[in-house]
Amino acid sequence: MNFKNILVKKNSYLAQITINRPKKLNALNKATIEELHSAFKEIEEDKTIKVIVLIGSGEKAFVAGADISEFAHFSVEEGGKLARIGQEMLFNFVENLSTPVIAAINGFALGGGLELAMACHFRIASVNAKMGLPEVSLGVIPGYGGTQRLPQLVGKGKAMEMIMTAGMITADEAKDYGLVNHVTSQEELLPLAEKIASKIARNSSVAISAAIRAVNANFEDGVNGFNVEIDEFGDSFGTDDFKEGTTAFLEKRKPKFN
Ligand code: COA
Repeated sequence: MNFKNILVKKNSYLAQITINRPKKLNALNKATIEELHSAFKEIEEDKTIKVIVLIGSGEKAFVAGADISEFAHFSVEEGGKLARIGQEMLFNFVENLSTPVIAAINGFALGGGLELAMACHFRIASVNAKMGLPEVSLGVIPGYGGTQRLPQLVGKGKAMEMIMTAGMITADEAKDYGLVNHVTSQEELLPLAEKIASKIARNSSVAISAAIRAVNANFEDGVNGFNVEIDEFGDSFGTDDFKEGTTAFLEKRKPKFN
């Protein structure tokens, strides 16, 4: 795959996607969103890849938001289309991938950058990371799922305050809020992501993808997550991974999943 705005690296079961526009603090322009979609899609189809890590290039930013220069002149219709297409093509797409995606927040994660991190399955951050949804300071609101996912992750009150003040929180505050799971040094961020990825990769990827569907069902309108869990649980019994996992346990050996 040939990309201009992102880098993709695969190493055994792990894929790393780096958003690579450091001079623009990795701001998400249309081309970057399209490239991210293609990369995630291709990796999802590669069954040797068990975990994806998403990071920004350079030491300053994960992603400093949607590219303001691209939408500053947009009309009402164009604004709506920007949000709709972006949500479908990238943010909802990432959230619903069967391959786990870890956001490694290595600096500013603002606006669309924090929204992208929140669409990932979970987040870790380096100490220098700063997170926020500054859209109302630009006269607009978060449009890539921020008003929905931030309250899911940190609760309504904290989300309202973050959105209304347009302020930034530190990595430690984000951990306190439950927005990121771990905070580490800049040097240790990727090694930590890799360590977590290695734990994930030992498990059944078929079961993990079923678990992602069940967890996500809780946040879907009109869907009963408990029923989805029951169905996914039942379906697990028909998989090779279930046979291998339970047999390995009874034979007191480590399972060998595909
Ligand atoms: N869209 C487009 N370009 C952006 C951008 C964005 N969201 N965020 C940063 N950039 C660009 C800057 O315009 C600048 O480009 P230039 O060198 O061609 O002028 C470059 O990235 C470096 O940013 P700069 O502002 O000089 O860095 P800084 O360290 O002084 O400030 C931030 C860092 C993150 C505080 C500041 O860039 C910022 O506020 N960015 C916008 C954040 C935002 O509102 N995001 C939500 C968008 S919906």
